[in-house]
Parts: sequence; C-alpha cells; structure tokens
Amino acid sequence: MSIKTATVNGVATIEIARPEKKNALTRAMYQAMADALVAVNADKAVRAVLIQGQPSIFTSGNDIEDFMGSPPRDTDAPVFQFMRALLGCEKPVIAAVNGAAIGIGTTMLLHCDFVYVADDARLAMPFVSLGLVPEFASSLVVPSLMGNRRAAEKLLLGDPFTGEQAVECGIANAVLPAAEVVAHARRVAERFNNLAPSAVRESKRLMRSHSAEQVRAALEKEAEIFAARLRSPEATEAFQAFFQKRAPDFSKFD
Ligand code: COA
Repeated sequence: MSIKTATVNGVATIEIARPEKKNALTRAMYQAMADALVAVNADKAVRAVLIQGQPSIFTSGNDIEDFMGSPPRDTDAPVFQFMRALLGCEKPVIAAVNGAAIGIGTTMLLHCDFVYVADDARLAMPFVSLGLVPEFASSLVVPSLMGNRRAAEKLLLGDPFTGEQAVECGIANAVLPAAEVVAHARRVAERFNNLAPSAVRESKRLMRSHSAEQVRAALEKEAEIFAARLRSPEATEAFQAFFQKRAPDFSKFD
C-alpha cells in the first residue's frame, strides 16, 4: 500500500510511500489518507497526527495520469474527501517535508498546524504551468499569508521556493537538516501527550473557526473551475508534455 499508517505513542502517522512515482497521489491514496484522518477524530489513543513522505520526496502532487484518465467527477471524489478530512481533523496535524512538495504537496501544508521542512525541501504550486488553477483554498490562503505580490510569484508563475523561503513567508515553522526533520516533527507531535486533549481540540477549533467558512467557500469555488480546467486543451497539452518529457507549448492558445 502506498499510504502507510501506524499509531505509536499517541501519534498517528500517515506516510506517503510511492517513491517509484515520486509519491504522486492517486485516488486510492487520497481515499486512504481521508479515511485515516477521519478515524483519528474518534480514536482516543491519538493525540496528534504526523504526515510524512520519504527521505528524498514528500510528494510530487496529484498523479498526472489520474488527472488525465480519471479526473475527479464531483466533490465526493477522494481528493475532496481528503481535503475535507484534513480541514476537519480535530487534533493537531504536523507535517515533515523532505525533498519536493509539489501542487497539493504544498497546498496541504497550508492546513496543517505545524510544518517542518528539510534544508533540501523544494516547494511549488505550478497549477498555471499545468493549465490549471489553484486548489485546496490556496487562492485564498496564500495571498492572505504573504500578500498578493509574493503569492503571484508562487501561484501565477509557479516559481519553486526553498524551505527557508517557506518559513519566511509563513508556510513552515522551521528548516532542519534533512535527516532530522521527521524526528523533530515527531517530538513536537508527542508533546501533545502531555497537554489537556479537550483544551487542545477546542483551541484548534477556535483558531480555525474565524476563517473556516471562507476556506470552505474558496475550496468549492476553485474545485468547480479546476474540474473544468482539467478537461481544457491547455491542460491536455501540459499533461502530454510532462509524459513526453518536454516543455509545454501554449503558443497556440489565446
Ligand atoms: N504524476 C504521475 N507521475 C509522476 C508524477 C506525477 N505527479 N511525478 C513524477 N512522476 C513519475 C514520472 O513520470 C516518472 O515515471 P517513469 O519512471 O515511469 O518515467 C517517475 O515518477 C520519476 O519522476 P521523474 O520526473 O523522472 O523524477 P525527477 O527526479 O526528474 O523529478 C519531480 C521529480 C517531482 C521534480 C518531477 O517528477 C515533477 O515535476 N513531477 C510533476 C510535478 C507536478 O507537476 N505535479 C502536479 C502538481 S498539480
């Protein structure tokens, strides 16, 4: 299975493990992550959640073959179940990012409570480069975190950025040596074993409550446009270019 889950010492780990495809996320993987996140809410043994990838890759984002062959049909699709489950996770979520975090690999971080990145981390939201539009409420959260100018570099140009830049613009808490990221994130997660669980849950709910409605509305609005974009000639050109290992040619579109 490409998603490995385990609960050890109060921490539910969700590990993305498909290194042969750079941890690209398929529908089955989104479903497994959604199910794991939903289960956490009811599991008294879990005080925090840790999301991690592999030592050299967090995730290369949505599987592009899936984008082409089985795009999400409606908002019940596994990718949207995953998004809702992460937004609805009542316990603290800590992400440990090694290597590349692309597309939803970066946008999921916007909804985690703590994000630790390796000194080799490379984040990017290249939606426009793929003929797509931002998702997971990133069109709302990214500009509100860092202002429209820096958001435009990341969401319109799709410029990649380093772990240090992720800290500077408010996406991540700290940069660590690559070999220490997961252990550090786990130590932070384990601190919740010593904190009052209801107070933690209520506090997380309060912190999110002020923007929750806006985030959900942005997600829905983006999802509608994203679904249409997936079938667009621009996106088709970009997906074909990826698999043909060439740059896309958007010169014929207006
Ligand atoms: N979807 C489907 N397959 C993917 C993938 C994705 N998102 N990312 C990587 N893969 C596959 C490649 O097609 C390749 O498969 P192959 O061995 O059968 O040819 C394999 O994973 C290795 O990827 P490769 O591109 O050769 O590795 P790399 O080290 O040169 O580059 C990345 C790594 C992550 C920078 C690069 O794979 C990449 O840019 N991926 C796409 C990212 C993206 O645009 N995601 C969607 C965001 S919305």
